Amino acid sequence: MQQEEFLFFCDFIKKKAGIHLDNSKEYLVQARLDDVSKSLGCPTFTDFYRRVKFNSTPDLTDKIIEAMTTPETCFFRDTSPFDALKNHLLPELFEKKKDIKSLRIWSAASSTGQEAYSIAMTLRDMQDMFGGWYIHIMSTDISNRVLKIARSGKYSQFEVSRGMPVNLLSKYFQKTDGGWAVDDKIKRMVEFRKFNLFDTFVNFGTFDLIFCRNVLIYFTTADKKNILDRMASNLDKRGHLILGSTETIFGITDKYTKKSYGRFASYQIK
Ligand SMILES: C[S@@+](CC[C@H](N)C(=O)[O-])C[C@H]1O[C@@H](n2cnc3c(N)ncnc32)[C@H](O)[C@@H]1O
Repeated sequence: MQQEEFLFFCDFIKKKAGIHLDNSKEYLVQARLDDVSKSLGCPTFTDFYRRVKFNSTPDLTDKIIEAMTTPETCFFRDTSPFDALKNHLLPELFEKKKDIKSLRIWSAASSTGQEAYSIAMTLRDMQDMFGGWYIHIMSTDISNRVLKIARSGKYSQFEVSRGMPVNLLSKYFQKTDGGWAVDDKIKRMVEFRKFNLFDTFVNFGTFDLIFCRNVLIYFTTADKKNILDRMASNLDKRGHLILGSTETIFGITDKYTKKSYGRFASYQIK
């Protein structure tokens, strides 16, 4: 890949998905886009570059974004957010919202759905509190490929072995030929939508919980601030923003205050 081609793709991917790539990622860009180029039958990488530069289509753009995004996820990832959800955040929200009996949750950049289904199973296991409530879990991602898997609710033995507690597996999954399928009553709790975090979400309404985990790491500090500031407008004043275990708002935005629950921390709007 020529330097000019590398710079073009860095700019293209930044504009389309916000993903910031620097020189240290040249090998990664080359390897991942080579695969896309070959899958399209382009004779050389330069032909592929010219096709994207002068004749791109939404489908081709999606292929490039999908090649450059990292869908790594698992059920109940990091455990502590889900322990806090069950033991603190949901019981608190139950008290605060029992007059209106409604909860809206956004799993932003949810990849193949494990995060959203982990939230749904946690809530379903708290039927004694939330039975009869209006519960809406919106799960979004920029990639059609991961959304297709998420919507199918089908996972391999390996995928369920990563983080899925055995009691919940037997309660909320059915064994299939190729692995496991999420029960319909859990699937019905989640709405999956294609969505780029750089697009406007003013019309998404207000959420009680926003999970925005392990995606901001791919963006510049200015872009992290842009997204976090806008999310603050969609978060209920009693609600919580939940980031990935290695992520923080400090040095990025002052719109939130930190709330600690043992090892776990969430953020509330000021
Ligand atoms: C590492 S996964 C995180 C999945 C899940 N939140 C978790 O923590 O396990 C990152 C996801 O962010 C998505 N993504 C990357 N850029 C995005 C953007 N601009 N808008 C929406 N989703 C994006 C990717 O497609 C990928 O599925």
